[in-house]
Amino acid sequence: MAQLWGGRFTKDTDRLVYNFNASISFDQKFFHQDVEGSIAHVVMLEKQGILTLEEKDAIIKGLTSIREDVDSGKLEITDEYEDIHSFVEANLIERIGDAGKKLHTGRSRNDQVALDMRLYTRDEVMAVDELLKELLTVLLDIMKENTETYMPGFTHLQKAQPITLAHHMSAYFEMFRRDRSRMNDIFNRMNYSPLGSGALAGTTYPLDRDYTASLLGFEGPTLNSMDSVSDRDYIIEFLSALSTIMMHLSRFCEEIIIWNSNEYQFVEIDDAYSTGSSIMPQKKNPDIAELVRGKTGRVYGALMSILTTMKGIPLAYNKDMQEDKELTFDAIDTVKGCLALFTGMVRTMKFNKEIMADSAMNGFTNATDAADYLVNHGVPFRDAHSIIGKLVLTCIEKDKAIHEMSMEELKEISDVFEADIYDAVSLKTCVEKRLTIGAPGPDAMKKVIALCESYLKE
Ligand code: ARG
Repeated sequence: MAQLWGGRFTKDTDRLVYNFNASISFDQKFFHQDVEGSIAHVVMLEKQGILTLEEKDAIIKGLTSIREDVDSGKLEITDEYEDIHSFVEANLIERIGDAGKKLHTGRSRNDQVALDMRLYTRDEVMAVDELLKELLTVLLDIMKENTETYMPGFTHLQKAQPITLAHHMSAYFEMFRRDRSRMNDIFNRMNYSPLGSGALAGTTYPLDRDYTASLLGFEGPTLNSMDSVSDRDYIIEFLSALSTIMMHLSRFCEEIIIWNSNEYQFVEIDDAYSTGSSIMPQKKNPDIAELVRGKTGRVYGALMSILTTMKGIPLAYNKDMQEDKELTFDAIDTVKGCLALFTGMVRTMKFNKEIMADSAMNGFTNATDAADYLVNHGVPFRDAHSIIGKLVLTCIEKDKAIHEMSMEELKEISDVFEADIYDAVSLKTCVEKRLTIGAPGPDAMKKVIALCESYLKE
């Protein structure tokens, strides 16, 4: 039980209290960020004349050697230390002696942990952004190849109007594009350094907070020391954005599960991304999609947890805030894992284009277009809607699609129908005529694809 603060205590901490209080089992996750922050702090202390050049060099050498030894496995991070900050400091003192005891000059664990968590989160925001970008690249590839791959578009999970596979993928492209822009927002808002805020009220040493901020790649220092040590907004924002990513992935997974079902067969998930049954030899299950859908719950849980933890905390630092870590780390790892696997699954998924087109042909996805045909021939829309409703009813009775009805049968419903109705309700026409930007018509889609391509090149 190595503690930094034993001085004013006359007893050892109770073992259970020690375990309950300790965070090293999880905060070792930002060991690298802790070392990086300490190096910046020490470089600044020397620049400000608070440490000598020799002391600074010794500390940096010591910190670097600790980092090397941990990375190579020579030095193990154990629960003998309360947290990662104590681990680093104790090892430093062991290695370089008295100079090591000066590392913590003008610093508190409160601004230190605030810095470490921010550095860690900032790296992860960028990592998630990178994974989102890879997914977008895969989606764009599918879009480019499928501007004329017809499929039904649904509302209420009932066939509605024909669209294309490119159009459907483009909907998800937009969702994940917004997710990336949220990463960008979070990055910009959080990118200020809390280092130098001390325990809560700054310090009496002449620290240069601008300097450490710039050494660590921040826009600048945060502007209130109490807020700095007790602000976890950026974690809440990040978990909220991660929850939104999971919501998008989960919806997409739900569709893939439906499309991959025996009834739909729109897609076939690659063998490498499917699993079997221990009893039913014929089974090939979409477990990965189901797991991603399922893991959405734990990411939402992390968001609820931190929101609840933060709601009653008076200024400034309180130990409650140690609870910001485990669930956040878990949520980040979960989302990164899901994004990587999902991207692989979609990249290798086979689209059964004929089945999709067939499905679009049946189920009256062209009924709106048939009504529009009548409107274009002078019938008011409400009347046209009712006429086509009757036509659909007749088709159902005769077990035919609209385009399978003879001219005679059509004339019985309305004498406005002429031979050009067949072309007007063909799948190709229905899709191609939808030309406003954002619609599935191939020409409109190609414009969107070009925009997506230049967006990804940025
Ligand atoms: N493990 C602590 C945390 O995660 C570090 C800060 C400790 N500060 C303190 N005053 N006890 O929040």
